[in-house]
Amino acid sequence: MSRFHNLEDFRQRAKTRLPKIMFDFIDGAAGGENGSYNNYHCIERIRLLPRVLNNVVERDLTKPIFEEEFKLPFGIAPMGMCDLAWAGTDQALAAAAAQYQIPLCLSTAASTSIEQMMDASEGNTWFQLYVGSSLEEGLEKVRRAAAAGCRTLILTVDVPEVAPRWRDLHNGFKVPFRIGPKQFMDFASHPRWVAETLWKGIPRPAHFPDPNKRQKDGTKAKGFNREETRGKVDWNFLLRLRDEWKGNLVVKGVLSPEDALQIRDHGADAIYVSNHGGRQLDSAPSAISRLPLIREALGKGYPLIFDSGIRNGEGVVKALALGADFVMLGRPFLYASGAAGKKGVFRMMELLSNEISLCMAQLGVNHLDQIERSSVLDNETVFLNPQSPGTEDHLTKNYEN
Ligand SMILES: Cc1cc2nc3c(=O)[nH]c(=O)nc-3n(C[C@H](O)[C@H](O)[C@H](O)COP(=O)(O)O)c2cc1C
Repeated sequence: MSRFHNLEDFRQRAKTRLPKIMFDFIDGAAGGENGSYNNYHCIERIRLLPRVLNNVVERDLTKPIFEEEFKLPFGIAPMGMCDLAWAGTDQALAAAAAQYQIPLCLSTAASTSIEQMMDASEGNTWFQLYVGSSLEEGLEKVRRAAAAGCRTLILTVDVPEVAPRWRDLHNGFKVPFRIGPKQFMDFASHPRWVAETLWKGIPRPAHFPDPNKRQKDGTKAKGFNREETRGKVDWNFLLRLRDEWKGNLVVKGVLSPEDALQIRDHGADAIYVSNHGGRQLDSAPSAISRLPLIREALGKGYPLIFDSGIRNGEGVVKALALGADFVMLGRPFLYASGAAGKKGVFRMMELLSNEISLCMAQLGVNHLDQIERSSVLDNETVFLNPQSPGTEDHLTKNYEN
């Protein structure tokens, strides 16, 4: 594990270990990928002001949210089909959530069920809801999550339709998979990934019936359809969901302060500021640029969760300084698993925790609630090092075939 010193080390290793179609599914974003590029660069551009001569030997990284105390201020963002990064990724993430006491958000499109993940994560799983074919079907999933003992539900609202992701279109990425000559060559040149995946079982969406199996009435079940519209979800549905779900309700994919206020007034317990890691509206603003505006609109005290573009511990601290109560990371966990499986995930946890702790020392604080807006310098002229790992131009590199 000593070879992995930063996220880019994991990303580069995952890029060679995974079939291109899988790596691109994880790494890619909507359209020309300006949105995801912008997320990362806007965070890197933020400068933090070091403070000195405070005794900072007793640093404490615990963070409460929803009256629960987590050992770290970050968790795992919901991602569908994580096992495509490497067979066993869901189990590795659950083990990390249990060991480090962090929340793990489980996607509706996950290939491991909410019941199994609640168990494996020792109760640290939050369920993320997509509503596709019917509102009623969505509410059934909510009841299932409640029955599994899940305490926090995330309704994702920034995917009314799935955005075109050019890399996926070029690669012929589809769920369920179709293997033509191009995909065959890709898989054939990654035999270890194929062997592991076949050995552990090809991932399929665990919260949907298997369309290949007959139902009791003899008809074929309707399975997960990734392309199906999710545009039915509206303010009335949010009210219905609030009524149905007794636990913590989070609404994910919010960038507008007006929407945030309305969501709070519809009874949500937290807002999750995110642009889906740039995977939806390519022209959306960076999520980090919206965070302080949403915090300002909501005032102090209302829980805000943040993701999109965080790639290191300093990024987590920046989001906290700009008003987040809790930070999630998406792709980094899949790069880590793709690069080195469970060991990779645990190494990344170690790196991120260390980076946050070291950053706190530099800012002169022992507790995360001492990180303030004033730690962030406004109007600094910033030049990013074009040779810094991770600052590379993803677009140029990824389109070199
Ligand atoms: C492979 C992949 C699958 C995703 N699937 C979902 C999903 O099922 N539900 C959801 O709300 N967000 C999903 N997301 C978005 C993440 O939850 C998160 O918003 C995003 O990855 C954050 O950006 P980051 O990857 O830069 O950390 C997915 C992201 C990736 C990379």
